[in-house]
Amino acid sequence: MDKFAIHGGVPLRGEIAVSGAKNSALPVLAACLLTEDPVILHRIPRVRDVRTMERLIEYTGASLERDGGPLKIVAKDITSAEAPYDLVKTMRASSLVLGPLVARCGRARVSLPGGCAIGARPINLHVTGLEHLGARIRQEHGYIEAEAPQGLRGAMVSFDRITVTGTEDLMMAAVMARGDTVLENAAREPEVTDLAGLLNKMGARIEGAGTSVIRIHGVDHLHGAEHTIIADRIEAGTFLIAGALTRGDLVVRDCVPEHVHALTVKMREAGVTVEEAGPTALRVTCEGALRSVDMITEEYPGFATDLQAQFMALMTQAEGISLITEKIFENRYMHAPEMVRMGANIRIDGRQAIVAGPRELTGAAVIASDLRASASLVLAGLVARGETVIDRVYHIDRGYERIEDKLSRVGAKIQRVG
Ligand code: EPZ
Repeated sequence: MDKFAIHGGVPLRGEIAVSGAKNSALPVLAACLLTEDPVILHRIPRVRDVRTMERLIEYTGASLERDGGPLKIVAKDITSAEAPYDLVKTMRASSLVLGPLVARCGRARVSLPGGCAIGARPINLHVTGLEHLGARIRQEHGYIEAEAPQGLRGAMVSFDRITVTGTEDLMMAAVMARGDTVLENAAREPEVTDLAGLLNKMGARIEGAGTSVIRIHGVDHLHGAEHTIIADRIEAGTFLIAGALTRGDLVVRDCVPEHVHALTVKMREAGVTVEEAGPTALRVTCEGALRSVDMITEEYPGFATDLQAQFMALMTQAEGISLITEKIFENRYMHAPEMVRMGANIRIDGRQAIVAGPRELTGAAVIASDLRASASLVLAGLVARGETVIDRVYHIDRGYERIEDKLSRVGAKIQRVG
């Protein structure tokens, strides 16, 4: 089982490139099931979760080609409208094939994802939305069975709470429904907008993506398209924090500064210098003392829950008390006890984490529990005195493309050990 060995204390200097967004790649791959024509996708990151989605797409009968360049997907014939448990259990975002399969085939059988380290992660809002569009849904033996033999019909869908993949799933289900669909209280994440961009290139008629009301006019057919997905804003934010934490001078390039605005506002409040270094690059330096700031995770454009653990690592080095509130998931502080073992002063009280700093971190053997928690432990290891060994780094490989290579190129002493 792979581990990372990190020797902390080295300021990161130079340029670090951001890959395509994992959370764009996953819905965009599912969208390819909506047409029998070829879809060409650029900037799909080589991360574990994308590989899982590629296997799932192939399982349904689509063919994939990636000869070193863009990814070409041809879903000419769907031979199985099913997402089996052994694939879904490793990646709950597999539920993103539910909408496309019902829209394309009139039926789908998708394993319920089950929970994960950060929470129960139900998909009830996906299911309710599909029922509004006319699908008949049964749940048995751990699977969702959806049927719409006469196709789906447009409807008003108002989400009880904002759901990113729920919005994406329903958008894909509605593109070929008879009539118009309105998604209310929709997620506004950039990845939703990116998906709508591809779907419209394929012939869909979607308006309002990126706002909380998305209108979809059903069309009869979608055709092939070519698309480049957006940069990964969570990877970009992770690297910005790494540059500040190590007191380096780091340019994070190939990113979208606007997509990490909530983070950069908080970093500047904490005394970090973050400057635009061109339209797709940010430069981060941190000379003076870091100041503690409070933070609450919110749906986009608020502070991303996927950057909460990384921001906590930064606050362990800040002067004062930082009150962090995790409002999206019910159990997303698994990284805190591991940071405490490294010397951090963190107390968890329900949805809140109280971080008192600055506290020197010392290297330790720690265990990754989920994707973003593992990223935060890498950050803690970069600033800790001595060696940190992180176990179960397959979690980090789910969402970061060879993070140890990217960090090593800007000076980090990090290596993957067997
Ligand atoms: C997406 O997950 C992301 N994953 C997550 O990133 C991210 O943390 C999350 O959005 C929030 O931003 C992908 O895009 C593939 P939600 P998603 O549905 O869509 C509850 C990462 O690290 N909910 O927006 O699954 C849910 O339990 C991953 O890259 C329901 O109750 O999240 C949560 O509390 C982790 N019923 C809240 O809503 C539902 O039917 C938001 O979840 C759906 C969600």
